[in-house]
Amino acid sequence: MAKIPYVEQDACISCGLCADTVPEVFRMNDDNLAEVYDPTGAPEEKIQEAVDGCPVSCIYWRE
Ligand code: F3S
Repeated sequence: MAKIPYVEQDACISCGLCADTVPEVFRMNDDNLAEVYDPTGAPEEKIQEAVDGCPVSCIYWRE
């Protein structure tokens, strides 16, 4: 199975970058924290951009 991303919400500072970068995978929930709603909604390389871009590095891969 492909690896899938997840957000450590305790660390998310609600910057919104991941949801802006890859809206097919990430969105902001009702508490304005990022969540993964479609882990396979975009290619891995695209999701990696969000992983790399998160200012607090709270997006991880799970095998
Ligand atoms: Fe939060 Fe990082 Fe996204 S701070 S909103 S998980 S880019």
